[in-house]
Amino acid sequence: MRYLLLLSSFLCILSCSSGNGTPLTGAEVYAKNCSACHQMDGKGVGTVFPPLVDSDYLMEDPNRAIHNILFGLSGEITVNNQKYNGLMTPIRMSDDEIIAVVNYVLTDFNQSKHRITKEDILKVRNKIQK
Ligand code: HEC
Repeated sequence: MRYLLLLSSFLCILSCSSGNGTPLTGAEVYAKNCSACHQMDGKGVGTVFPPLVDSDYLMEDPNRAIHNILFGLSGEITVNNQKYNGLMTPIRMSDDEIIAVVNYVLTDFNQSKHRITKEDILKVRNKIQK
């Protein structure tokens, strides 16, 4: 019995994390983790949820998106001349999901050629721990 349990959790490690085995695309990760606040079209909601579309705040430093996912964000920020003072809580996601979703936001919402990598995620993590 114990052996069976062990076996099933091992199989789960192999397959559960990515559902049917195929990793989620950036668009899917976005729909699941971001769209409730920033909306499917990335345009945000009024003065409550800032836009991710053509965001001058994000394009000033794309690693800000990694930081927000890992550690959250609060306090006043200005996005495209509009002030926001809300709270984004940290979101539990794998590194691969972070890379997929941030690069989706950069390409599809900001027409940017910038791509974040695993090294960028490491950099953001290390900066905070120091
Ligand atoms: C629970 C609501 C919520 C969810 C879910 C959420 N955010 Fe946010 N996000 C916010 C709020 C609120 C702010 C502004 C915080 C402030 O005013 O300091 C923000 C700010 C940001 C910013 C910086 C401002 C801008 O518009 O460029 C980025 C980038 C961002 N979020 C990306 C994401 C991504 C990517 C996801 C999904 C992985 C996500 N957010 C999920 C609420 C959310």
